[in-house]
Amino acid sequence: MTIKNVCCLGAGYVGGPTCSVIAYKCPNIKVTVADLSKERIAQWNSEKLPIYEPGLDKIVKECRGKNLFFSSDVQRAILDAELIFISVNTPTKNIGNGKGRAADLKYVEGAARLIAEVAKSDKIVVEKSTVPVKAADSIMKILRANQKQGISYQILSNPEFLAEGTAINDLLNADRVLIGGEETPEGQAAIEALCGIYENWIPKSKILTTNTWSSELSKLAANAMLAQRISSINSLSAVCEATGADISEVAKAIGCDTRIGAKFLQASIGFGGSCFQKDILNLVYICECLNLPEVAQYWQQVIDMNDFQKTRFTSKVIQSLFNTVSGKKICILGFAFKKNTGDTRESPAIHVANTLLDEGACIHIYDPKVEESQIFEDLSHRQNIFVYQDAYSATQGCHAIVICTEWDEFMILDFNKIYEGMMKPSYIFDGRKILDHEALIQIGFQVQTIGRKLEREFVPRSWSTLE
Ligand SMILES: NC(=O)c1ccc[n+]([C@@H]2O[C@H](COP(=O)([O-])OP(=O)(O)OC[C@H]3O[C@@H](n4cnc5c(N)ncnc54)[C@H](O)[C@@H]3O)[C@@H](O)[C@H]2O)c1
Repeated sequence: MTIKNVCCLGAGYVGGPTCSVIAYKCPNIKVTVADLSKERIAQWNSEKLPIYEPGLDKIVKECRGKNLFFSSDVQRAILDAELIFISVNTPTKNIGNGKGRAADLKYVEGAARLIAEVAKSDKIVVEKSTVPVKAADSIMKILRANQKQGISYQILSNPEFLAEGTAINDLLNADRVLIGGEETPEGQAAIEALCGIYENWIPKSKILTTNTWSSELSKLAANAMLAQRISSINSLSAVCEATGADISEVAKAIGCDTRIGAKFLQASIGFGGSCFQKDILNLVYICECLNLPEVAQYWQQVIDMNDFQKTRFTSKVIQSLFNTVSGKKICILGFAFKKNTGDTRESPAIHVANTLLDEGACIHIYDPKVEESQIFEDLSHRQNIFVYQDAYSATQGCHAIVICTEWDEFMILDFNKIYEGMMKPSYIFDGRKILDHEALIQIGFQVQTIGRKLEREFVPRSWSTLE
């Protein structure tokens, strides 16, 4: 079966980039990305796309209106498509059973019910959202219970492994594409049809096919293992700060071991983003439901360590500023959860800002890609927050700078100029380990970072009287 018409329900961080790349690489396939949010669709059809992702603008501009369409007519998109991706959000449940841990599948269920209601021909339904193991079962039950005569459905699991900030490159040069389906002849035919799409640019050897449940679990497992590496290196960063070891040196030394590998060993203020925490919580919940409490506790520790790291870093900021930030101006550089994205979901900067605001500080914020309205929303429109359009005005008159995101542009700032404009002593807390700390100390800054005790510990002359 050759697919000619694809639709994707959900025009978010996954649906938008994934389908743009499919359209780009498969000029013979018509791709429609549909979303219930008219506002989001209008943005996708405008000059300013709703998400920032390097390389995305170019691809959308090249394909939009040719074989790539963004539409809020979800029904029409479903009717026309032979294959439908479900890329809707699966947030952590905030009410009821499993609150705070289980994945909320209401949007996935909503999408499945909509397909069942609208479809007038056979459909391959592809679960691209990250879901608990056996979610495909629920989708299948909904579709088959509402099946109209003569229509058949196949459900596939095809989790997305892209990382925000590098999504286009990840999609174009995927390490692997994973497709899970039923072992029946119909299931295998559906898998073949989806493989046919990816084979337009992904080598066959990188397309893995498995049973549905392995595919669903692999996505949760991949995120859990990635986040575990961050929590592991972050736990060691605390040991480094206490002993004089340097976490960069430790990471390099252990990363040279091919069994460990060098990637994802960058100590930091902690991980953020919409996926890691949500997916591990989901895994923890699944393990508890499967009566595997030891496994649940094991993965819970990855999140606990991340919370510890964020709190540890923020406490260090407050302690260094003579244990009080009340009335002080503190500049947060970077608000996105990582560089090259405007996404702030679960960003560590939110934790830092809220804690400093709780302590009475006045917060100046600059991020190259996050909208001002998003920052105010994330910080619940609290008082004493000022958002700036560049790092120089944001740092002016501040007592301290806290680096929360590793944006490249922060590395080439003129810190001599910044130092001139700041209150003295001037502090920098580098939560991403991206700055030249020795050079900053030379300028006169008091510098603190993650996983490394810096040589010059500043003790103000009046410190004993302040104590
Ligand atoms: N963001 C990532 O980096 C990433 C990476 C891999 C996997 N995932 C997973 O992919 C899924 C989507 O994530 P996201 O970040 O793109 O979410 P998102 O919140 O950015 O986008 C989801 C979109 O789905 C729309 N939607 C909800 N119900 C709908 C329906 N019935 N019909 C049409 N549209 C509907 C929403 O309006 C929203 O625009 C999640 O399960 C997530 O865990 C995300």
